[in-house]
Amino acid sequence: MVGAADFVGRDVISIKDFTRDEIDYILRIAGEMAPLAKSGSDILRGRIMATLFFEPSTRTRLSFEAAMYKLGGSVIGFSEPEISSVKKGESLVDTVRVVEKYADVIVLRHPSEGAARFAAEYARAPVINAGSGAEEHPTQALLDLYTILKEKGRIDGLTVALMGDLRYGRTVHSLAYALSLYKVRLFLVSPDLLKMRREVLEDIKNRIEVYEYSSIEEVLPEVDVLYVTRIQKERFPDLAEYAKVRGSYKVDLNVLRRARSDLIILHPLPRVDEIAVEVDSTPFARYFQQVENGLVTRMALLALILGAIKE
Ligand code: NCD
Repeated sequence: MVGAADFVGRDVISIKDFTRDEIDYILRIAGEMAPLAKSGSDILRGRIMATLFFEPSTRTRLSFEAAMYKLGGSVIGFSEPEISSVKKGESLVDTVRVVEKYADVIVLRHPSEGAARFAAEYARAPVINAGSGAEEHPTQALLDLYTILKEKGRIDGLTVALMGDLRYGRTVHSLAYALSLYKVRLFLVSPDLLKMRREVLEDIKNRIEVYEYSSIEEVLPEVDVLYVTRIQKERFPDLAEYAKVRGSYKVDLNVLRRARSDLIILHPLPRVDEIAVEVDSTPFARYFQQVENGLVTRMALLALILGAIKE
């Protein structure tokens, strides 16, 4: 049986570090955090979280920070490495070794794949991966699952379509791994150039039914959850490749004419042009609720890792 003690001091590098039972447990605690997100609490008073962001972020950093403040903790860190000693040539390992002298938990976003794992090997403080290059974004997957569960009442039995940049998008890698622990049918919808990474596909195919498509139209009537992502322009080694796929897919009211009436649409945000703004006011759109769910999910994770949940 999974209990709160199982999470104390743990790193969160890949969503694959968790079993299904552990994920379900985190989602349950996230539900219990909802009242604390309103009232505030002091269960993490005296604890410090460091956010080390070597890449742009709005939601992930702000929601981690808000989560810490809501629980009575404090936050230090940087989101502009140019004005930290990184600029002087300090290595990631040294940065982490220094920061852990001040902080009880480190939240790291870095452009390199493997950076979070590497940092965790050197840090005694727990490290939470807030995005490691194109590789993974495990806490986004947790809040995505929480949103599906909250909106649909279950995860098992659903048909989920991941649509967009499945090659460079880290959120869809973590989410695909996470969904493969449930009884879902997964549709992967992308232009050829942006197909799901082979290593993710090989891994998840062993556990769930997975089908690949190049357009959403034909399969949309079967879909319960449509998860859309932007093209990760900044990760393309060659901008000529990006030019070939730019604007190649878009969800708008016309596409949605074939949707089930209870379809929900999720997006990790930021959105560029892959979901038309006209979709925002339809009952399908849940991407702004997703943001709200990120707060309680991260509150749950921080409270568990820092040992503030007793059960
Ligand atoms: C995502 C990311 O950084 O990977 N954003 C987020 O954390 N919500 C998605 C993206 O940048 O497209």
